[in-house]
Amino acid sequence: MLRWWKRSLLLVFFKNTGVFYKSPANFSYWWNFGFIALYFLLSQIVTGIVLAMFYNANADIVFNVVFNLSTEVYYGWWLRNIHANGASFFFLAVYLHMARGVYYGSFIYPRHMVWVSGSFIWVLMIATAFLGYILPWGQMSFWGAMVITSLLGALPGVGADILFLLWGSYSIDNTTLHRFYSLHYTLPFIIFILTMVHFGLLHEFGSNNALGLNNSVDYIPFVPYYGLKDGLSIIFILFIFFCFVIIAPDKLGHSDNFILANPLVTPVHIVPEWYFLPLYGILRSVTNKLLGIFLIACAIVFIIILPFFYKTALIRSAMFKPFYNFFVWLFFVICLLLGWVGSLPVLREYFLVGLMCTIVYFIWFVLLPLLNSFEFGIYLVYKPLTNDIFRFGLLNVLIELGSIFKLFWLYNVYYVFFSFS
Ligand code: HEM
Repeated sequence: MLRWWKRSLLLVFFKNTGVFYKSPANFSYWWNFGFIALYFLLSQIVTGIVLAMFYNANADIVFNVVFNLSTEVYYGWWLRNIHANGASFFFLAVYLHMARGVYYGSFIYPRHMVWVSGSFIWVLMIATAFLGYILPWGQMSFWGAMVITSLLGALPGVGADILFLLWGSYSIDNTTLHRFYSLHYTLPFIIFILTMVHFGLLHEFGSNNALGLNNSVDYIPFVPYYGLKDGLSIIFILFIFFCFVIIAPDKLGHSDNFILANPLVTPVHIVPEWYFLPLYGILRSVTNKLLGIFLIACAIVFIIILPFFYKTALIRSAMFKPFYNFFVWLFFVICLLLGWVGSLPVLREYFLVGLMCTIVYFIWFVLLPLLNSFEFGIYLVYKPLTNDIFRFGLLNVLIELGSIFKLFWLYNVYYVFFSFS
């Protein structure tokens, strides 16, 4: 029995990849967001399955069904609020997880495929959240779906056919709701499978860390050290999460979704959920529909292939690369500004800010390989010329420079934000 236990493939797999996973000794809390994302993925699947037991995808009654779910079903309000707010927290965890990856250079070779697999998860998450948003059949559900799906109608030649396939009809109605419901139920399982692939790829080369220390030498087992640390961060996040669920469950939603979907009345200001806002900001920065779809597709593809823009990294972390540091902060600020613009009504000033941010977003990716070669060049010239003491001295100067750039960007955000609002 003991021998079987020891040899059991599943157990060996679990032991090597989980409990005794060789983790760098210096993980900061930024390395906890992967685990937090995993928690929310599982929570969404479990609450989603139970919600589906009470849901009825019939456009004539669905609005009341969802309302009754909150008021009549035993603890239905609780389930629904956990699922709705869980989507936001899931995206928040994944965005912070991605930002960590960009800042500390975790996406760079040899972990490029970890990044690529993660990006596919992100794309599926976008699709799943978009499909799920139609299910309560409120005004914003209906019109959000209408705005985004109609974009596909602009594709030359195939647009109308794709729309018909997606809607199952000549407009969004009962058939569309059925299709979206079915796909919304299915996609999370594909996300789960992809997450397992993500873990497999991660474990091939092990985790990165903030200082770039060699983790085949300086490592500790995952359990108990990071098991406890992840547990602590989950407790902290759940505290904030349940404050939303219990005290302000609708804070992250839109008030128009308390109104039954009406194809004859368009809401004054159609906005998607906050996690789509940067992409929506890009879409709204041009006036041509087709160009809008093209830009969104490029924005997503560029994120997926990010590791192929920036290939060499003798030093990974932005902490030690002032130019890259500046670039990374520029990117974060641009994404935030795009999100902010996406949430505003279409006015000339906002439109111009959105347009400028979109241009900078794409230029950022184009300049990245140049930055990479430039930094690599500096390293090659500078390394043989200097001794260690001088090198560390210069490193400190570079880190300071990085902080100054950071302040500069924060000041810019402050300036742009307050001059328009
Ligand atoms: C369902 C969503 C996801 C889950 C559950 C997940 C989970 C994880 C976990 C548990 C880790 C190891 C711990 C950590 O570094 O935080 C990890 C590492 C990583 N993930 Fe994800 N992830 C998800 C989505 C993504 C996305 C969207 C990206 C990027 C586009 C991404 C990129 C990475 C990278 C580059 C690493 C290696 C980090 C390092 O070694 O420093 N992940 N992921």
